[in-house]
Amino acid sequence: MNVLVIGKGGREHALVWKLARSARAGRIFCAPGNAGTLRDGATNVPIDHTETDKLFRFCTKEAIGLVVIGPEDPLAAGLADFLRGKGFKVFGPSKDAARVEASKVFAKELMRHADVPTADFRVFDHSGPARTYVETRDYPVVIKADGLAAGKGVIVCKDTNEALKAVDRIMVREEFGARAGRRIVVEKKLEGEELSVLALVSGRTILPLPSCQDHKAVHDGDQGPNTGGMGAYCPAPIGTAELIAELEREVFVPTVHAMKRGRFPFQGVLYAGMMLTNQGPRVLEFNARFGDPETQPLLMRLKTDLLDLLEAVADERLHEFEDKVEWDPRPAVCVVLCSGGYPGKFDTGKPITGIADADALPDVKVFHAGTRLDAQGRVATDGGRVLAVTALGNDLAAAKARAYEAVKRISFVGMHFRTDIADKALKKKT
Ligand code: AMP
Ligand code: GLY
Repeated sequence: MNVLVIGKGGREHALVWKLARSARAGRIFCAPGNAGTLRDGATNVPIDHTETDKLFRFCTKEAIGLVVIGPEDPLAAGLADFLRGKGFKVFGPSKDAARVEASKVFAKELMRHADVPTADFRVFDHSGPARTYVETRDYPVVIKADGLAAGKGVIVCKDTNEALKAVDRIMVREEFGARAGRRIVVEKKLEGEELSVLALVSGRTILPLPSCQDHKAVHDGDQGPNTGGMGAYCPAPIGTAELIAELEREVFVPTVHAMKRGRFPFQGVLYAGMMLTNQGPRVLEFNARFGDPETQPLLMRLKTDLLDLLEAVADERLHEFEDKVEWDPRPAVCVVLCSGGYPGKFDTGKPITGIADADALPDVKVFHAGTRLDAQGRVATDGGRVLAVTALGNDLAAAKARAYEAVKRISFVGMHFRTDIADKALKKKT
């Protein structure tokens, strides 16, 4: 079966790498892909996800049997509906279902309606009432732009002044776009440890995957501004079997049922970003797709054929895989290497050395994110998050040690990364 993966990040490289290992995989294409998807046998296709007619013609010409949509933007724009409407098999939710990620107001109202535990909140569609409200709050609060903002539309405010500024930035100055900032959610800041719980969802079946922990802040010790994610490990010991069962019952089942009742059933990966508070787990956000970088350590551990699994989701046959998905028992740790300046401004085009040396280590895989081949055919930086160095180990400490050993072999001008990925779990053990 020929497969088309949409996207160009580390997540998509991991998807391509794993799909290519399927006995049933024919040709694998990635639009637009990166230097890593190319190296792992995919044909990169220079079509943007907004060029929907071109994608349709490409899928027809190459007899694509399954389209796997990685990022949120094409899902929110309705690419899954469009291609399904043309008769193609697609892994990923409809535009209506993807609102669970694309609109924070939608997600919060769905959670309230379905009685899913989340922070108390208010929605505002005018800056005046929002200002009045934040003047009377207990602090800290979190203010969120309604729409997609590449992970940047969430502002933690420690006092009234910061909250007034956040309202202004989102609603008046429209820093995250006019649409994303038309409405805001104001909610209490929750304290605790974060956990990413992803589940495959199709028809009536919900299949939770091993939980992961992401590291959002740019610097060690969770300091500095938030990024797309600086590293992750899987499984997260804090995500015990009891907790995952509780989340299935209290979060996934009511959410998936409410979406079905609302006539926008979810199909794909539903990702619950959880905060484990003293009062119990609370949903911070939903994503309608695989996480990045969570997917890299997840797929490093997956033993089941990914093409079979994703196709079963698209076919509404996921129940066939209940209790049958196999995982490598060893944990995986993923360290993201970033361009100098990221998550702020950064340069691209810096040649990268040492990837092959790092890849040569046992149980190490270097997933590419922002990379491309330069005019001389060298791998060069092409984004903020550049590489996701991922390793398996007999235990979490060994996986971490191996990932950082691989990191040592790689270099490019301006490269920076966190040195404490997985430490939250490791420190608890000692
Ligand atoms: P979101 O896009 O809503 O998940 O927000 C992105 C990140 O902001 C989350 O992963 C958390 O780190 C943080 N965040 C969001 N909402 C809250 C909250 N109510 N309390 C504390 N942190 C939050
Ligand atoms: N790692 C966070 C995300 O994928 O949204």
